[in-house]
Amino acid sequence: MAANSTLSVAVLSGKGGVGKTNISLNLACALHQAGFKALLVDCDLGLANLDVLLGITPQGNLQNALLGEMSLRDVLYPIAPHGFDVLPAASGVPELSEMKAESRNALLSRLEPLLGDYDYVFMDIGAGISETVQAFAAMAAARIVVITPEPTSLTDSYALIKILSGRHNLRDFLVLVNQAASAGEAKASFEKLAGACRHFLHLEPVFLGHVRQDKKVSEAVCRQEPLLRYSPGCPAARDLQGLAAALQRARLAMADVLSQRNILHVAPD
Ligand SMILES: Nc1ncnc2c1ncn2[C@@H]1O[C@H](COP(=O)(O)OP(=O)(O)OP(=O)(O)O)[C@@H](O)[C@H]1O
Ligand SMILES: [Mg+2]
Repeated sequence: MAANSTLSVAVLSGKGGVGKTNISLNLACALHQAGFKALLVDCDLGLANLDVLLGITPQGNLQNALLGEMSLRDVLYPIAPHGFDVLPAASGVPELSEMKAESRNALLSRLEPLLGDYDYVFMDIGAGISETVQAFAAMAAARIVVITPEPTSLTDSYALIKILSGRHNLRDFLVLVNQAASAGEAKASFEKLAGACRHFLHLEPVFLGHVRQDKKVSEAVCRQEPLLRYSPGCPAARDLQGLAAALQRARLAMADVLSQRNILHVAPD
């Protein structure tokens, strides 16, 4: 596909541990299986764990590229059996989790030429509402907010959407409900969040779909394999395949808006 057809998607949540990394990973897997080229960027700087979920030991990471020790192309890690590429980050480097805007923008301008090779770029972003989280969220052309039915997840994701709409003028959010007991519970959770966004923020999030609570997810994590490889027929894997198709449909529905956006939007400092 041409460079301008790359879609960058920030995968976000207010609350930690809701499933962002697993969802990013398995969406990349599912989209590869559907014939698309995907890149996963570990934007959880300082507490990266995409490499752990994939059982890989990269020679370099985004921090090496940031410090000029390696080129971004050398940091790129092709996951041959799964058919997508990863840009890994480092773990246990606290100062990198609060990167200065200047360094972040320098990294991004170097990243942009690389991204044009892909149909989808998933940015797996850390939890919370830090400046770094906000900046990464604002850079992507599209955003998926991952929630679970727990009330703490709903309040934290609302806080995140509020800050992103208020401070960064972001209005479009795709919502994915993870760890749902049923389709009905997922829809009800979405409606609670959407109702608050509608009432207080005057914006309308879009329901992307849900992934069921499934013990196979945790087993796949322990095996350090994407769920779609470990147990392709389990309920959560089937949901994730459906979500990849839903994302592709959402992309087509938003084509006019997305065509006016850069692969990455680098905000001024
Ligand atoms: N659909 C699911 N069913 C059952 N368990 C799940 C599901 N999704 C995620 N989990 C569990 O939640 C754990 C955390 O998932 P994951 O690491 O993807 O979350 P995260 O949002 O990326 O966390 P962090 O905020 O720390 O980056 C997984 O290791 C798994 O045990
Ligand atoms: Mg994560």
